[in-house]
Amino acid sequence: MLKGKKIVLGVTGGIAVYKAVDLVSRLRKQGAEVRVVMTEHAQEFVTPLTFKEISGNKVAVSMWESNQEFNVEHIALANWADVFVVAPATANILAKMACGIADDLLSTTLLAAQAPIIVCPAMNTGMYENPATQENIARLQQRGVTVMPPAVGMLACGTAGAGRLPEPQQIVDFIKNFVAKREGDMRGLKVLVTAAGTREPIDPVRFVGNRSSGKMGYAIAQAAAERGADVLLVTGPSALPLPPNVQACKVETTAEMLKSCLDAYDSVDIVIKAAAVADYRPHDVADQKIKKKTDDALTVVMDKNPDILKELGMRKKHQILVGFAAETQNLLENAREKVVKKNLDMIVANDVTAAGAGFNAETNIVKFLFPDGSVSSLEQMPKTAVAEKLLDTVMQLKSSK
Ligand code: PMT
Repeated sequence: MLKGKKIVLGVTGGIAVYKAVDLVSRLRKQGAEVRVVMTEHAQEFVTPLTFKEISGNKVAVSMWESNQEFNVEHIALANWADVFVVAPATANILAKMACGIADDLLSTTLLAAQAPIIVCPAMNTGMYENPATQENIARLQQRGVTVMPPAVGMLACGTAGAGRLPEPQQIVDFIKNFVAKREGDMRGLKVLVTAAGTREPIDPVRFVGNRSSGKMGYAIAQAAAERGADVLLVTGPSALPLPPNVQACKVETTAEMLKSCLDAYDSVDIVIKAAAVADYRPHDVADQKIKKKTDDALTVVMDKNPDILKELGMRKKHQILVGFAAETQNLLENAREKVVKKNLDMIVANDVTAAGAGFNAETNIVKFLFPDGSVSSLEQMPKTAVAEKLLDTVMQLKSSK
């Protein structure tokens, strides 16, 4: 995604400058060309020589250098960039950007930039939460600047809170996702996503269901649509608003979900089955509400539902087929069995008993498993971030298929 991309990295004066060195190295490993612009304060933390060696390019530090690489340095850099990233971005540079102040090379280049701008604020929590900084950030966002939220944790000043510069790899992933969205790397692809739980009626007012909220599947559908895919979201009942720019098909039962999936299957390139599907349905569905009887127990006989994913696996031709495995024990073992049995290209395993994972949580903790037995583990992250990582992996599978 970043191969051949021209990235200007603005580095401002904060203790997190050391992470920016690693960031440049990682961006280059992704194939990006990086040119660094340092403020005077940033040079107090790390010398331009370090960035020159890591980036392989001369570092721009002043408007008034005699040996500038370009004729009008700030304009040339501003025009050269495909993406302009400021990391770490101090409260000072955010304030200058918000006010249009151009009093050094970096602020002047930013003002001239035609490329999209990403800022990664990093500072003491008090400074970050100060209304002045928050107003500046909001103003920049209104003008189309993308803000990567700072991480929360211990800060160099000894306090804990929001304001840490995210880890370099997280910034690389953020830039990759940003570029993926702008370039629409999934444009032209048809993606079928299933979400939420299916419900099997017992009578007109009762059903057998599960705890799936739809958050995981909706995040995937939204992320795919943002990356330009043509998305069909087959969803069980959910309280969530439908993501923009997706075609939605609302279903209730497993049989309805199966039909919608089969109807669309031949025309889609990618299927991601995040829905929690009821494996059984009541054998008899009462026409009227079942009345309370004198007996202490009510027996509901259940029939086995079709396994939608298995059906899709059996009919697979050109599609990339991704399942989820919701497990409460033997996570890897069970997920491994499903990836093979259902003829999947990949399965996303989540231990739904872990805090911060599974049903109705905002975050998830997942492992990607592949038919060759390889596993890639992700740390706890928002379901939106899991969705992006999942789509990155699906795109890799697609290009290698
Ligand atoms: O919706 P959220 O609240 O955000 O919760 C997300 C989630 C926990 C539901 C999601 O992350 C998840 O794990 N979804 C899969 C749930 C599930 O049904 O897992 P399973 O291990 O029982 O099924 C394995 C796979 O087969 C799944 O892709 C499932 O969609 C599919 N399946 C299962 C049974 C069946 N009859 N038909 C199927 O297609």
